[in-house]
Amino acid sequence: MKLIKNGTVLTAESEFKGDILIDGETIVAVGKNLDQLADDMIDASGKYIFPGGVDEHTHFGSFGGRLFETTEAAAVGGTTTIVDFVPQEKGDSLGTAVEKHAAKATGISCVDFGFHSMVMDMQPDTPDQIKELPKHGVSCVKMFMAYKGTPFFMEDISILKVMNESKRHGITMMVHAENPDMISFYTERLKAEGHLAPVNHSYSRPPVTEEDAVRHAIAMAQVADVPLFIVHVSTKGAMEAVREAYAGGQSVFGETCTHYLVLDTSYLALPDFEGAKYVCAPPLRTKEHQEALWEGIDRGWLNAVSSDHCALAGGFEKKKEGLEDFTKIPNGIPGVQNRISVLWSQGVAKGRISKQRFVDLIASTPAKNAGLVNKGKIAPGFDADLVIYDPDYHGIITQKDNLEGIDYETFEGFEITGRPEQVYLRGMLVAENGRFIGSRGCGHRIFAKPYAAAYKHCRRA
Ligand code: URP
Ligand code: ZN
Ligand code: ZN
Ligand code: ZN
Repeated sequence: MKLIKNGTVLTAESEFKGDILIDGETIVAVGKNLDQLADDMIDASGKYIFPGGVDEHTHFGSFGGRLFETTEAAAVGGTTTIVDFVPQEKGDSLGTAVEKHAAKATGISCVDFGFHSMVMDMQPDTPDQIKELPKHGVSCVKMFMAYKGTPFFMEDISILKVMNESKRHGITMMVHAENPDMISFYTERLKAEGHLAPVNHSYSRPPVTEEDAVRHAIAMAQVADVPLFIVHVSTKGAMEAVREAYAGGQSVFGETCTHYLVLDTSYLALPDFEGAKYVCAPPLRTKEHQEALWEGIDRGWLNAVSSDHCALAGGFEKKKEGLEDFTKIPNGIPGVQNRISVLWSQGVAKGRISKQRFVDLIASTPAKNAGLVNKGKIAPGFDADLVIYDPDYHGIITQKDNLEGIDYETFEGFEITGRPEQVYLRGMLVAENGRFIGSRGCGHRIFAKPYAAAYKHCRRA
């Protein structure tokens, strides 16, 4: 058995000096005086130990994102589990789509992986396919209120039908909430006026378009009487909507993403088309929204910070499809590698969130949201997914250290305080000081449980 000794253990509730005993892939004890049980000692003096990160929102292969070969980036950044969104090809059932996507990850992924479904081809029998999802280990389904004109945009009636069925099977509804008609209205006007540069993507999707859709999604969840999870919340108003619904007794939760916390709209206006690198939906917002989101994650109004990682195959060149027209810029921002370091450096080190909130936001609650019952916690019986974090490290994030398989770094030039010195995946050392030292394919598929137990945990102010 392995013993990680002398470190300070961080959990979502507390921190304490304690040792962690690992038997094979599992944590078997946490405490003191465990030496006699160990045959292998790892000294973590001066270091923090927290649960391996759970990134519950990634696009390895959907929306043009690079595939699972690039999950080394997650491992070196301290994320040991990803929950990846499954693209659905036309004609495939939701379950078939999951198995096709799982086949791409199996034997390749460097971190453990679970899946969320996405309805991208709504058919009359789509609601009926929901009952199959628990068998495929899927506990959440994302639906798109935005992207009108694409096959995955869904009318309210379709969303309500899927919601209604999901309730019987403990599947959490997720929505991408942006008002499509408002976006079309703004887009037509901008284009008519000849405003075609990347920054106009954000002008076509101002905060009201998100808040309106979030409130509408919450109303639909009320009609269908289902729990709701709003993905990638980027505005104060959308967050307030989630907060108010929860305070009013509705099971409504939401996440934000690293980039919404630390990158503002000025990035979209960078010259030489550089702004296109930061085009995602919803778009980056102003500092005022960022400050609100920091308060929101501190107070628990949003319960997770995900990356919404989407490292476009083709990189910056691919973004140039929208050189003449911002509506043609492929959406998506990479960020799986530095989610944890950025949140620590900008959050914990700057006193915006506590270490406990940090652990909760990057690992414990995402695991619960996604129904991953053995992940996200340092306690006996949980998977030995652990990060030994060196808080004294200082560095600068740069593209040359990036393993996301793309030709630019989202957080280029950001100072970081601390980094994952060692990363353990189910007891295996897979990354050390920014280098992946595990083996390709060491990540296992994780089957999520339906939400029954998942929503009792949220701390709210
Ligand atoms: O722009 C984004 N967020 N791209 C990924 C797809 C999505 O909607 O999450
Ligand atoms: Zn059913
Ligand atoms: Zn989305
Ligand atoms: Zn996404």
